[in-house]
Amino acid sequence: MKKICVLPGDGIGPEVIDCAVRVLRAASGALEFIDADVGEESLKRHGTYLSKDTLELMRSCDSCLFGAVTSKESLDYKSPVLTFRKELDLYASVRPVRSLVQISGRAPIDVVIVRENTEGMYTQDEVFDDKGVTTMRRVSKKASERIIKFAINYALTNRRRKVTCVHKANVLRSSDGLFLAMFRELMKSDGGGLEPAEQLVDSAAMKLLTDPSSFDVIVTLNLYGDILSDVAAGVAGGLGFAPSGNIGPKCSVFEPAHGSAPDITGKGVANPTGAILAGAMMLRHIGLGTEALSVERAVAGFYSSGHLTVDLGGRHGSESFTEHIIKSLKS
Ligand code: NAI
Ligand code: MG
Repeated sequence: MKKICVLPGDGIGPEVIDCAVRVLRAASGALEFIDADVGEESLKRHGTYLSKDTLELMRSCDSCLFGAVTSKESLDYKSPVLTFRKELDLYASVRPVRSLVQISGRAPIDVVIVRENTEGMYTQDEVFDDKGVTTMRRVSKKASERIIKFAINYALTNRRRKVTCVHKANVLRSSDGLFLAMFRELMKSDGGGLEPAEQLVDSAAMKLLTDPSSFDVIVTLNLYGDILSDVAAGVAGGLGFAPSGNIGPKCSVFEPAHGSAPDITGKGVANPTGAILAGAMMLRHIGLGTEALSVERAVAGFYSSGHLTVDLGGRHGSESFTEHIIKSLKS
């Protein structure tokens, strides 16, 4: 049995994670799910957004499935997501975005965004003085090297053809410059025939919208990857469509790319596609590739047979979507 730590979190997190767990149970009998608290529920029960016990549990399981948390505005708030990424050394964020539905006026997209997940703008290192605030943004050789190697390895094992480095080295000449130089060097030494490409982050955002097929695998810094993955999800139909994996040397956490979506919480309309596809990514990561493929095929089949979820103007809410997927897995 593979042990999966399940962290539903806040807002629509519990709604989409419930759907994903039911689909995973239907796909494989080899999974044991262990529930844990994160976010509001954890604060209520343990006085902290992420307890030490939960972190230990996450560490001890074969993988984790996480929903989303709602962030607070107070200055001393630290997101449990940033904490577990750091504590579990989840240095790579992998976000595959693929069109499952033809969206009018948009070109089909099939990209994988590999994002550095440990430094950049996410260390929350802000220094106040009487004139304002200075934010420290670190780009290290070590983190750049390991994320670029990860992206190259991902592209090679998943039979991708091209890796594009997205950066802003025309302005951030030293920091993004280091990342870009590392990319050039590693693509030469380790690139294994992959086509290298480079693109400034602003024009990359535009091109993701207008010409998504010019991208295959993107490797980029933390904040750029966060923003570009939401752009890519939008091209595919919305935030409900993108899964995400946080991967480290020992641990992994899979989640939908979206947040807690307070505007639709409790309405039964959250699209569980991203959460379910994150579950499929997790299955593949823990060695259940056949089961992963059957989940992905069931999800793709729902859309290709003409059904539409509420976020695309259709009639299928979370429940009816999930029932379709489970039925298709069982048939
Ligand atoms: P969001 O991703 O929660 O929602 C943005 C928009 O997309 C909303 O209109 C929402 O209804 C829609 N949407 C998101 N997921 C959907 C789904 N599965 N089906 C249909 N529609 C969906 O981002 P937002 O509004 O910027 O942030 C809300 C909260 O989530 C904030 O507190 C933010 O900090 C938090 N957040 C948490 C993340 C995490 O826990 N990993 C990631 C991103 C945001
Ligand atoms: Mg985001």
